[in-house]
Order: sequence, then C-alpha cells, then structure tokens
Amino acid sequence: MLSKPVQDILNDQIKHEFYSAYFYLSMAAHCETENLAGCARWLRLQAQEEQSHALKLFDYINERGGQVTLQAIAQPPAEFTSVLDLFQQVLEHEKKVTGLINRCYETALKDNDYPTSIMLQWFIEEQVEEEKNATAIVEQIKMVGASGAALYMLDHQLGARAG
Ligand code: FEO
Repeated sequence: MLSKPVQDILNDQIKHEFYSAYFYLSMAAHCETENLAGCARWLRLQAQEEQSHALKLFDYINERGGQVTLQAIAQPPAEFTSVLDLFQQVLEHEKKVTGLINRCYETALKDNDYPTSIMLQWFIEEQVEEEKNATAIVEQIKMVGASGAALYMLDHQLGARAG
C-alpha cells in the first residue's frame, strides 16, 4: 500500500508527464505550420514517450493498490520565436522534470518506500538521457546557425528519429 504523500506526489507526476506530452505536441503543431516536418516528427514521438512515462506511473500506483487521481492539465504555450527557442524550452522543461522526479524520489525515501524508490530509479536514468538529447539538439542548432540550408539539414536529421 502506498502512503498518502507518495501516492499524492506520483499522481502529481502523472500530470507533469501528461503536461510534457501536451507541451511537446503543441511544439509539434507549431513545427508543422513552419514546414519543419522532421522537428514535428521528433516532437510527436517525444510526446508519445511522455505519455508512456505517465502510464508507467499510472500502472505502478495500481500495482501497489493505490488510487490514481487524474488532474487538470494546463494549456501549453503555442508560439515559439525560433527553432532554437523551441528546443531551449525543451531542455529547460526537462531540467524542471528532473527536479520533480528527484522530489518524488526524496518523498519515497523519506517514507522508507523502497519499491517506489527502485521504480523511480528508471525515471532518474531516463532524465539523464532526456537532458542529454535536448542539450545535443540545442548545441547543434547553435552550431549550424539559422540559415535555411542548415535548418533543412537539421530538420531532416531530427525526422530520422526511430522511436
Ligand atoms: Fe518524462 Fe521528458 O520526461
């Protein structure tokens, strides 16, 4: 059985993961309007990944005999000034999510909830990967600059994301 503090923070995290999916889907929509199909595809796949994170927590709460309570998801931004701005926001968002995951982990440890802390280790590792990927894209955009040809190449490269 999950304690109330652990259950509450995991339910909060489900909301944050779905918000991440919503945020990236909004970015994907923006990229579609800018004819950046590769970026849009990358962001759409990222949105799907965020949904899978939310569902992983959803399943875990149920496995532990807890109560999933879905919360309202805020409206994400819809306007982005450039591709660099957009991916910088991805990176900043992932850093924020890392902090939220760490708070879940701290709550589980404080509660001596070892199964939850073990489950959360997957998320801790995942956040290292998420921040690494977003940082790499931001650095690449800075490197290639904002010329049409460079953006075209980058869009093509991001569109090759497998899953
Ligand atoms: Fe679910 Fe991008 O962290």
